Amino acid sequence: AETLTILGLESSCDDTAAALVRLRAGERPEILASVVEGQTALHAAYGGVVPEIAARAHAERLDLCVERAMAEAGLGFGDLDAVAVTAGPGLIGGVLSGVMVAKGIAAATGLPLVGVNHLAGHALTPRLTDGLDFPYLMLLASGGHCQFLAVSGPEEFARIGGTIDDAPGEAFDKTAKLLALSQPGGPAVERAAETGDPARFAFPRPLMDRPGCDMSFSGLKTALLRARDRIIAEKGGITVQDRADLCAGFQAAVRDVLAGKAARALAACPEATALAVAGGVAANRAIRAALEDLADRAGLPFVAPPLSLCTDNAAMIAWAGLERFRLGARDDMALAARPRWPL
Ligand code: KG4
Ligand code: ZN
Repeated sequence: AETLTILGLESSCDDTAAALVRLRAGERPEILASVVEGQTALHAAYGGVVPEIAARAHAERLDLCVERAMAEAGLGFGDLDAVAVTAGPGLIGGVLSGVMVAKGIAAATGLPLVGVNHLAGHALTPRLTDGLDFPYLMLLASGGHCQFLAVSGPEEFARIGGTIDDAPGEAFDKTAKLLALSQPGGPAVERAAETGDPARFAFPRPLMDRPGCDMSFSGLKTALLRARDRIIAEKGGITVQDRADLCAGFQAAVRDVLAGKAARALAACPEATALAVAGGVAANRAIRAALEDLADRAGLPFVAPPLSLCTDNAAMIAWAGLERFRLGARDDMALAARPRWPL
């Protein structure tokens, strides 16, 4: 077709989202609408995402998000070519909610259905935002994911390495919790780190002494806890400066691990024509600067989509669905929700 217009749905974690993406032949893709309903307030009292609460909220809100996206774009279902939906990986109740709604729309309208891997959505976003060509290296670093992917086609991903325990965003969130800073922890820790001395505490750079691109962040959290408790034992409490120094030291360690392993991932992927990032952790300025510097030294462009498209959204699902649809991919009513679905 000359023009493809795809509706995308996302509900795999704690954001309910619907979006419309259009691609006209020979032009750059266009996001006609992107609606994201976060659930932070619903889960705040529990210190983490509660799957049952998330699933119920997705089920209640998906229809409304679709209606809002369609209204914003001024489109009806007759203007669409397909419905794309996150079919995993993620919290099963939420993924099921999205898959059910997408099947309902497909059944009612006769539109083709395209199941999308959430990680593929993140990994293909630089093509939506920056028209990036294959192949490229992607670092996906968020509260739930951390991996290097060599992306060489809409369905061709090679995992070059990743975390063997926590995701870095999770480590930022736990650090904030240990230091009584606000959630989400990443922005709070970054702010506190601005006035801190990164050299005061010697945090480890886990797995940097081992070959390969795997990473580990759970030990950093333990090191932070010990350093905090040592200060409290010595002085009876921690000051604003102590907190700033702890945050600066922690952030520098995460930065060094991500940038150090990214350098190895680039070396392992010499065909890459760019270094791209996605995920909430890519918002961190120190981490972003280190990765940009690395790309510069390798003579490669550094691509970081705008934050609203780095974090969970449905435009990336509509786009990944469009890329699959163009290749002829179609799913049917047998499309399954997959809680685990490695790329
Ligand atoms: O991609 P995202 O919005 O959600 C998923 O995890 O799917 O990422 C959220 C994570 C949180 O853990 C948050 O603390 C982290 O990204 N984050 C940051 C920053 N902003 C958000 N981490 C470090 N520095 C930041 N400025
Ligand atoms: Zn995500």
